[in-house]
Amino acid sequence: QANISSAVDSRDIISKMNETGINCVVFYGSQTGTAEEYARRLVQEGRSRFGLKAMVADMGDYDYDNLDTFPSGKIAIFVLATYGEGQPTDNAVDFYNSIIETDLASRSEQQPLKGLQYVAFGLGNSTYDNYNVVVCNVDNALQKLGAHRIHKVGQGDNGTGTAEEDFMTWKESMWAAVATAMNLTEAEATYQPMFRVSQSKELFHVSPCVYSNETNQTLLETATNNTFNSQTPHTAPMIRSYELFSAGDRNCLHIDLDISDSSLFYRTGDHVAVWPSNSDDEVDRLLRVLHLCDNRYQGIQIESLEPAVKVPFPTPITYDTIFRHYSEICAPVSRQLLSALARFSPNKVAKDEIVRLGDDKEYFHEQVGTKFLNLGRLLEHLSNGEKWPQIPFSLIVESLGKLQPRYYSISSSSLLQPHRLSITAVVEKKQNVGSNYPFRGVATGYLSDLKRKQNSEICGDSHTTGNIPNAIKVPIHIRHSSFKLPSDPSVPIIMIGPGTGVAPFRAFVQERAEQARRGLNVGKAILFFGCRKPEEDFIYQSEWESYQKSLGDRFELITAFSRQGSDKIYVQHRLEEQSKKIGELIQQGAFVYICGDAAHMAREVNVVLAQIIASSHDVDETEGRKLLKTMKSTNRFQEDVWA
Ligand code: 2AM
Repeated sequence: QANISSAVDSRDIISKMNETGINCVVFYGSQTGTAEEYARRLVQEGRSRFGLKAMVADMGDYDYDNLDTFPSGKIAIFVLATYGEGQPTDNAVDFYNSIIETDLASRSEQQPLKGLQYVAFGLGNSTYDNYNVVVCNVDNALQKLGAHRIHKVGQGDNGTGTAEEDFMTWKESMWAAVATAMNLTEAEATYQPMFRVSQSKELFHVSPCVYSNETNQTLLETATNNTFNSQTPHTAPMIRSYELFSAGDRNCLHIDLDISDSSLFYRTGDHVAVWPSNSDDEVDRLLRVLHLCDNRYQGIQIESLEPAVKVPFPTPITYDTIFRHYSEICAPVSRQLLSALARFSPNKVAKDEIVRLGDDKEYFHEQVGTKFLNLGRLLEHLSNGEKWPQIPFSLIVESLGKLQPRYYSISSSSLLQPHRLSITAVVEKKQNVGSNYPFRGVATGYLSDLKRKQNSEICGDSHTTGNIPNAIKVPIHIRHSSFKLPSDPSVPIIMIGPGTGVAPFRAFVQERAEQARRGLNVGKAILFFGCRKPEEDFIYQSEWESYQKSLGDRFELITAFSRQGSDKIYVQHRLEEQSKKIGELIQQGAFVYICGDAAHMAREVNVVLAQIIASSHDVDETEGRKLLKTMKSTNRFQEDVWA
């Protein structure tokens, strides 16, 4: 027992593999959970199809100084996302540095990794520069260090939305290569549970030893110090939450959170991560379809049957808590999971349909992908409401990812309000064609529910900070970003942020106004803001007016309303109209910022900016693009964009 628990907790992946007989380790570098999910799916498949003793490994959980003793005959699979402007994900930074820059890297002549056999898959977004650069760099570095890659590197593209199919195609040929290299034969797929779930009549949710709380509370109970990070959120009292607009199927929330009672701090331009809970509707549906409603609050004990594998939540726990606070139950279902579920179908019709969906990718896309069916919805839909009691709970635990925090650009200035941060989030409720289920974002839905709850309870008064009686609390942590104002406030800035892309620019303008109030020499700030119609979704309109008053000609707002007249007017059209002025400001050293949608808006704005620079510098467009790139590398052009 002692050995097993030391293996589970050890940061030494090599001893862990040796002690527990693991012969396939799937490392993931994940920021939003996709790479982690792919890693888990590879483990499941390696185990059930080839009898591999496979485990997932969060890259942040291990040290890499003894990677040169990786046991021969075993395999490492790397699933690595490229993040932001070509960086490794937070959890992969140490590994990345150790093979690319330091330690191991310095010993490349000795080929220290010649015992390491590996394959790699990257996740990236082709609408950004440096597409999949992390997996490519890791692959090059590993080869330089003597490691032996046994299959081509796979690449999944989130930009074109083909990542899932890219992965499915890659992994088929990858398994064939691994089977040859490791001399594996494919057996009839069987399901071998990784966890044992047992119920105890004594352990009801009221018992203090059963986890039925929010994730954050559990973590805080075990936290040893007052630092908050991506593993340990802080519960921040909500000072106020109100609607900036509400129109049809969209509404936009402004939320102020109090962080005075914590060691959290932020700087203007940083991101806040919100740790959501799943909604009652979705939790109820999944419990219902798995026939677990009657036991939802009963304590259950979950044990790992695989010495190297950790149970992904504290136990004893309840089914309700797992689905509400720990598992990503609203994520779209993967085609791969369907084959695993087929044998547990409650009737033949459901079984035939699930097998067809698993085999036929076009049909799957049409029936599941476009309708955004999550696990509960899919099972309910396939069986016409009949329950699926035969699905082993271990399979559910293995298949669902960890509920991930969601990131927002903070929309307040830390200079003006260091202890209170603001979030600006648009809540979309879409009803997809042909689907009975509306789409609802997990975190924005959660924030809307909190707002409703706040309306029905007494919340803090909007001017207080510190101890707010009865305040609703939101689990958060801060991610510091490099999206920053110039350190010299007299430098002019040009900001382009349609929709909620304006969030960090509210913070920037607040900051400039505060600097001016304190007597600093503040340069010109121009904000390009776009929305549908002035009377519909023109957020923070009165605030912009007051900044225009206080800052005078040092703040200019240029609006683009896309649904007001017969022509669509977007921010990039306004930017073109202002070419001369923008070109001059850039020549004077202005910083340029874009925030918002990466796929279309940011790309189109980039084109216009390059044209403006080309014309103001009297060079051609290729040269203009190069100059824009140079501005990026010197931080004079910064983007905070999302897919
Ligand atoms: P639309 O929805 O009317 O097309 C905030 O979402 C604003 O950004 C809306 O006015 C939206 O217009 C606009 N928008 C949509 N696509 C855009 C693009 N490619 N470039 C710039 N703005 C865009």
